[in-house]
Amino acid sequence: MTSTDPTAGSPGGSPANASVAAPDETVPPRARVFSGMKPTDGVLHLGNYLGALRGWVAHQDERDSVFCVVDLHALTIPEAVDPAELRSTTRAIAALYFACGLDPERNVVFVQSHLTEHAECTWILNCVTPLGWLHRMTQFKAQAEARESVGSGLLTYPVLQAADILLYDTEVVPVGEDQVQHIELTRDIAVRFNRLFGDTFVLPRAVVPKAAARVMGLDDPLAKMSKSIAAERAGHAIGLLDSPAVLKKAIMSAVTDSGRETRFEHASPGVRNLLTIYQVLADAKVEQVEERFAGEGYGTLKKAVLEVVVETLTPIQARDAELMRDPAELDAILARGAEQARAMAAPTLARVKAAVGVGA
Ligand code: AMP
Ligand code: TRP
Repeated sequence: MTSTDPTAGSPGGSPANASVAAPDETVPPRARVFSGMKPTDGVLHLGNYLGALRGWVAHQDERDSVFCVVDLHALTIPEAVDPAELRSTTRAIAALYFACGLDPERNVVFVQSHLTEHAECTWILNCVTPLGWLHRMTQFKAQAEARESVGSGLLTYPVLQAADILLYDTEVVPVGEDQVQHIELTRDIAVRFNRLFGDTFVLPRAVVPKAAARVMGLDDPLAKMSKSIAAERAGHAIGLLDSPAVLKKAIMSAVTDSGRETRFEHASPGVRNLLTIYQVLADAKVEQVEERFAGEGYGTLKKAVLEVVVETLTPIQARDAELMRDPAELDAILARGAEQARAMAAPTLARVKAAVGVGA
């Protein structure tokens, strides 16, 4: 699809990659960090963990961080929304954040819809976002192609995401590779707003993990591991709450090839995916991984992956089960988080409204 807005022009700001930190780049201490995940299709998978959550947790001490369960984003595919389920999944995703190690004492953790500021800011940002920019988003294009009818919320999805980020004066957005285009768009929207209405927004940039920024499906290593495919096909994803038996079945039947190539560069996509998962979870170097599996069949690699996955997920699952036993306590934590988030977002929204000349 092409731009239908003659005033759109090209996104302002810098060339595409300038807003993405080099993977290895260290983030300055106490940079404001913001990220979030959608509470769709049940639980999270290893891609969510390695691409995003693990990075959030790793830096929670050095940074001033805000993490959100973005339930309003879940409404963009309304056919898929079951209201009661959305509410319970939202809580379950928050529990998983904590189970994976996010500490609510050291971070602000909240649910997007518990504040009105995100939706309100989105309206104002919608008005400065050229339609052409939104039509170019690859996630929108893929989602729109797969459906007969598309709500306008699906098109403006990244504008809500921009509001999420910009309301917190965010500098750094840790995400998997598939979100980089949305963060670049956020930056472009901020640049355009600042040009039109004066300096209002801090310009954010994406930070993606050095390895495993794009974990692939076990059953189809050419497709990104995704929640929606996981909901339809057993054996696609490694679910963070999967039992050891389910994990065994999925990992041992992961697609590989008929050879024995275990060097990252020469391996087929399925084998490279397994090598990467192993490398990151075992906290090993590329050379160490290649040395360990050299000359071995893929069965050995799969067993090692299974072992390190189970080792990683067992304590997460135990903490999650404990947290889910007390929904009232989870709700209380999220209510506190919403209060803290509001205290940060409200002044930014007031600044935005003052800049455009609306509000009391
Ligand atoms: P989503 O599942 O789309 O809500 O994504 C939540 C976060 O997980 C985002 O930061 C994504 O970039 C990241 N993510 C999702 N799928 C993958 C994947 N297969 N590999 C790496 N990161 C992922
Ligand atoms: N669009 C993101 C995803 O699908 C989720 C998201 C919404 C997000 N708002 C955000 C991620 C703000 C980072 C920052 O994964």
